[in-house]
Amino acid sequence: MLYNTSPDTAFTPTTQIDPLGYGKVAIVTGCGSGIGLATAQLLLAHQFRVCGLDAREFDYNLLRVEDHGRFHFTQGDLTRPGACEEGVRVCVAAFGARVDVLVNVAGVMDGFASADSVTDEVWDRVLAVNLTVPVRMMRGVIPFMTGVAGGRDGVIVNVASTAGVSGAVAGVAYTASKHGLIGATKNVAWRFRNEGIRCNAVLPGAVESSIGKTIAGGLDEVGFEQVKPVHALQARPTDGAPIITAMEVAKTIVFLISDQARTINGVSLPVDKAWGVV
Ligand SMILES: NC(=O)c1ccc[n+]([C@@H]2O[C@H](COP(=O)([O-])OP(=O)(O)OC[C@H]3O[C@@H](n4cnc5c(N)ncnc54)[C@H](O)[C@@H]3O)[C@@H](O)[C@H]2O)c1
Repeated sequence: MLYNTSPDTAFTPTTQIDPLGYGKVAIVTGCGSGIGLATAQLLLAHQFRVCGLDAREFDYNLLRVEDHGRFHFTQGDLTRPGACEEGVRVCVAAFGARVDVLVNVAGVMDGFASADSVTDEVWDRVLAVNLTVPVRMMRGVIPFMTGVAGGRDGVIVNVASTAGVSGAVAGVAYTASKHGLIGATKNVAWRFRNEGIRCNAVLPGAVESSIGKTIAGGLDEVGFEQVKPVHALQARPTDGAPIITAMEVAKTIVFLISDQARTINGVSLPVDKAWGVV
């Protein structure tokens, strides 16, 4: 019996060890806010040791004090040459030569510019953060998951978007970056399926985070006018706010990491309350 399930006694787990994360190491990019922060909080609650990477400062008040010892934060722009590799190196130095989980969350929006107006600067930045960084992070951790660097099995979750399968919810750069990330996810899933690595993507709809609130707040760009009716289909009717929380996305990520999802590999899982079926 896993637990004492008698209704007459207090619910007592037989062990205080959480098998999901105990002794395991996870890297989370974009851990400073929104979905990345919620993912780091949830993984820590499951007793993972977590290496968080983000360009912004990290507010330790957002973590439970008892989790501080299992959290290691590195600040830096991951698009800098060598930054992703350095993030993995720092993690290995902090927690040893194993990486069990990578969650690629860091991402930026594109201001909804379409193909007739997107600037080179926006295109390069959005593709760099949303596609190049996740691929470099996967390249960095795979040796620690396959045994090349003494590792074992591993799980990767890439945070794509509804924009990874739809052309009607974002600008051209963001849409292309998230479509590309799904392609990379499938390629890694197939290539490493026999080496103990699973790689999946989640496709959140509009999430209550800084990105989601910016969208809900309305944008001036001509491109946004084109996607506005599609966004309205998912917004809260009263005030147009996003209806999915960052923690709801984090829970789906943790499900994909868990053993419950051990046969799920290479999928792109919508987290959008049916928005994606439109
Ligand atoms: N919010 C939404 O509605 C929504 C919907 C679908 C997908 N997503 C995706 O979810 C992910 C997280 O977004 P969020 O909503 O939590 O936004 P957010 O802005 O709250 O978090 C993104 C984090 O990534 C970090 N980051 C950005 N560029 C970076 C860089 N170059 N190096 C290191 N860190 C960097 C930011 O500092 C920030 O902390 C993104 O990939 C986004 O595309 C968001």
